[in-house]
Amino acid sequence: GMIDKGNYRHFMLKEIYEQPTVVGQTIATMVDPLHGTTTLPEFPFDLAAIERVTIIACGTSFYAGMVAKYWLEQMARINVEVDIASEFRYREAVMPPGGLAIFISQSGETADTLAALRYAKSQGQHILTIVNVPQSSMERESDIVLQTHAGPEVGVASTKAFTCQLSVLACLSIAVAKARGKIDHAEEERLVNALTEVPARMAEVLNHDEAIEALADDMSKARDVIYLGRGPEYPIAMEGALKLKEISYIHAEGYAAGEMKHGPIALIDELVPIIVIAPTGRLFEKTVSNMQEVIARKGRVIFITDEEGSQANGHDAEATIALPMLDEFVTPLLYAIPVQLLSYHVAVAKGTDVDQPRNLAKSVTVE
Ligand code: G6P
Repeated sequence: GMIDKGNYRHFMLKEIYEQPTVVGQTIATMVDPLHGTTTLPEFPFDLAAIERVTIIACGTSFYAGMVAKYWLEQMARINVEVDIASEFRYREAVMPPGGLAIFISQSGETADTLAALRYAKSQGQHILTIVNVPQSSMERESDIVLQTHAGPEVGVASTKAFTCQLSVLACLSIAVAKARGKIDHAEEERLVNALTEVPARMAEVLNHDEAIEALADDMSKARDVIYLGRGPEYPIAMEGALKLKEISYIHAEGYAAGEMKHGPIALIDELVPIIVIAPTGRLFEKTVSNMQEVIARKGRVIFITDEEGSQANGHDAEATIALPMLDEFVTPLLYAIPVQLLSYHVAVAKGTDVDQPRNLAKSVTVE
């Protein structure tokens, strides 16, 4: 039947709130929590024989691909290249036959991604697509399809499709790691358990909605906003910046926290909000020291971290959002939500057309 907004003011907000459910549904199709294993469909090729992975997508789907590069390299110890489709399709990429090419698309119809898929196919790659809309063009041309179960996404700015893509990519990364003999069963079980815990933690993150909304009025007056993250939270910083640009029309940039000193630090003054995305873990101290550099230059920091991180460094920032603790592996899924909510509330404060932002289309089927 017709999809409606229910009690939500916008589809985007409704779709943000659906994430615990749809991420749960997507994960449930690909893991067996009882036995702590992934349960991906059978592949029409030997996963263990793959030596190289190429991930191609556009927009928000591209950022999901960037997160997967960190996962696959770290867990499966495999070469991963990731690129945007509009560049990849024309740059005559060298692809030794037998590689795995992964295409990520909510719609399955994005023209540049479809053209890139055809190129990869012509170069003898195995084609795996991650799509949300069933029976798409990309699905028809693939060797194997892993579906996200986000349900119809109406808001032009992608939210729930993104976290469902991350869920599939997380399962796929575990499966590749296992096929290559890089993780044992105990490790697989730990990773699967971490993933299974995500929907409940996501629901807790949504409890921070009001605290995030309280930051929006002030941020809606900004001309530029910078998002910083490291490791798998670097693509989340880029995604946060993209969301803000798309729906609030405020200029925003996502930067690798360690790269800030090579340019963006020059932009910092008391007028530029800086969103620092830093769960505790291997890279926490490094990101915090980048945050201190920003504070020393009078930058106004919104620190998105977890409970432990907030206790350690929460008092330094102007505002701190403390998310629940979670295994480092799956933090990108969780940290996507506060940046979605922040851009949503800033757009509402600015009075823009949240679900139908100017100049943008839900699915771009022309070049
Ligand atoms: C458009 C949409 C974005 C989306 C991108 C890729 O630009 O506005 O939200 O991320 O296309 O779309 P796809 O359907 O291929 O994921």
